[in-house]
Amino acid sequence: MYDFDHTYTTYLVAFEAELKKTCEQFSDKSPHLKQAMAYSLLLGGKRMRPVLMLAAADILNVPQEDVMPFAVALEIIHTYSLIHDDLPCMDDDDFRRGKPSNHKTFGEAHAVLAGDALLNFAYDLCIKQCFKGEKYVRAAKYLSEAAGDNGMIAGQSADILWSKQETFTQEQLRFIYENKTGKLLAAPLAVASILADNRYFVELEEFGSSLGRLFQLTDDILDEIGSFDELGKTIGKDKEEGKLTCIRLYGLEQSKIEADMCVDLCLLTLERMDLDSRFLRELVHFVRNRKS
Ligand code: IPE
Ligand code: IPE
Ligand code: MG
Ligand code: MG
Ligand code: MG
Repeated sequence: MYDFDHTYTTYLVAFEAELKKTCEQFSDKSPHLKQAMAYSLLLGGKRMRPVLMLAAADILNVPQEDVMPFAVALEIIHTYSLIHDDLPCMDDDDFRRGKPSNHKTFGEAHAVLAGDALLNFAYDLCIKQCFKGEKYVRAAKYLSEAAGDNGMIAGQSADILWSKQETFTQEQLRFIYENKTGKLLAAPLAVASILADNRYFVELEEFGSSLGRLFQLTDDILDEIGSFDELGKTIGKDKEEGKLTCIRLYGLEQSKIEADMCVDLCLLTLERMDLDSRFLRELVHFVRNRKS
């Protein structure tokens, strides 16, 4: 019998071991900085992006050691984005992953520096892979574009600029979702595909982007009706900050319907591929029903 939880845990355990080793490689030059870098990373989190990458690699028959450095780099990039996202000048959040956020523990300046250093470290990991050949260069380039000013950061910029606005459109919400969340959730699938010589690239990227939309719909829903104990971050923050969320645009009930429609879209995209997509199918439901 196929067991989703067991498979997720298997990927998680492999990933955590690698991440721990990576944190030990952070420079000792500034012990405070090193601590700040490792703090947010080792607090955990769902590790959704690396798990997705390891799962996609498995499905596409890419050896785990080929994708693992990119999986670590991606989680490091994601974590830096969370550290900066929580800063007083951004979302001003005091908690993350169930503990005081990075700037609450190490001070604002070191939260900025830890984020910067994590991003540099992630690229260093990717650059080392590039010596292995052309497809590794393409994988690194994909990751870097997804994280940058044409990807996650563009979404964060819009999220900040459009908050507190009185009127907004569905297109603006779509733009925020596609970029701030969608790009880093499509990246693990795209990277695995690139390393599998672009097998099902279009479909996997499209699936990742829809999964990203679903992920942010549920993030916005949980900000409204989730619990601090399960989420490990402050609830009701979006309303407080006047964020452009699905709750504000559609209301709670319609947001849930949007999420259900997004589930269907994800599942339909998976059906277009002749792959063993059991794990990815279950993951779609996991994202829709998550509480954390
Ligand atoms: C939070 O991401 C930020 C969003 C893109 C909504 P996650 O919900 O994946 O956070 P962790 O990694 O599990 O802490
Ligand atoms: C942040 O979105 C997405 C990032 C790129 C970090 P949110 O601001 O909604 O994430 P949370 O709710 O603080 O985790
Ligand atoms: Mg934010
Ligand atoms: Mg936030
Ligand atoms: Mg949120």
